[in-house]
Amino acid sequence: MEDVLVRSFREKFGSPPEVYSSAPGRINIIGEHTDYNLGYVLPSAIHLHVAFLASQRTDGIVRIWAESFEQEKSFSLQKDVEAKQGGWIDYVKGIFWVLSQKGASLRGINAYVWGNIPLESGLSSSAAFEVSIVKALDTLFRLGLSPLEMAKLAQAAENDYVGVKCGLMDQFISVFGKKDKAVFLDCETLAYEYIPLRLKREGLGILVYDTRVPRDLASSAYNKRRAEATGALEKLRESGVQTYKDVTLSLLDEKKDELGETFYKRARHVVTENARVKKAVRALRDDDFHEVGRLLFQSHESLRDDYQVSCPELDLLYECGKRSHSCLGARLTGAGFGGSGIALIQKKDLPSFKKLVSDEAQRRGFVTPSCYEVEIGEGTRIHIK
Ligand code: GLA
Repeated sequence: MEDVLVRSFREKFGSPPEVYSSAPGRINIIGEHTDYNLGYVLPSAIHLHVAFLASQRTDGIVRIWAESFEQEKSFSLQKDVEAKQGGWIDYVKGIFWVLSQKGASLRGINAYVWGNIPLESGLSSSAAFEVSIVKALDTLFRLGLSPLEMAKLAQAAENDYVGVKCGLMDQFISVFGKKDKAVFLDCETLAYEYIPLRLKREGLGILVYDTRVPRDLASSAYNKRRAEATGALEKLRESGVQTYKDVTLSLLDEKKDELGETFYKRARHVVTENARVKKAVRALRDDDFHEVGRLLFQSHESLRDDYQVSCPELDLLYECGKRSHSCLGARLTGAGFGGSGIALIQKKDLPSFKKLVSDEAQRRGFVTPSCYEVEIGEGTRIHIK
């Protein structure tokens, strides 16, 4: 693959790239909608990724070919960075914009981008794209950014330029991911730890179930959930707590009437999900995948009933998982409202489980889902410089 991409770059721009970076997508094992609530998450990088090849130009023009869209776009660093254009180019502009806000000295580039993370699938293709660009520019312009700075800059581009108020999880895991490991991240202190995922040894695999449901309203619904969870915490703060980590279920029950039903449910999800992440970390350390599976099912129930970010297509995966002896646990992964779910499955039964969910989707008249096994892969890296 590397050679093919380098060749394509050379054909487009007439000389070889000076830098070639890649950054992966992710699954989140557990800890959903907890990152911006300053709680715990447990994501893993996957083998699917974005590759970004670039070389410097001297005229301040950024010219990019995106293979997935078969489209070339360009902008001038002097004139056009501030204004959003719409579409994929805004991720590139967003990164140039955040770096220039930081005072980085940048020049124009020729670039070529390729990726195999299905778009709009809830596997963080946009975070992977952002991280691949920051990583390449860091090398190309010798910016000396730390891994954490890269993750935060990529998040800032998404929050402040693209306009999606996401947490740090996706960009963090795209930078810090490690083969066959999950990252246990405390989103308040940013302390993190690698947790081994000994799936192969246990004869297990992780299936991604991409619902392929259109996600047009996902970002406004996401921002709404975020505002509700923040609103609930503000009310709870009157009782002396600072963050969701200090909130207990008994405090929630005491405040139930004051919070009102929506705030109460959002808060209950965050509190119980934080507890599930800690339990999942303990279970993974003991290779107790049956307990991990139970926690995945519980997480889905909480996301469906309390945070209300599931949909019938994602519930189908959960329901099939509950019915099947080969499935230890299943839940939606990422923001929800469509996108993908994951299922922890006995590897030998992956084909029959795939058939079960696909047949069920067809029976219910859903869009044909796409199901495949994912490998747990590495975080961002430089292939050539
Ligand atoms: C999206 C966001 C993340 C996180 C998840 C939900 O993937 O980008 O920051 O909030 O949703 O857990």
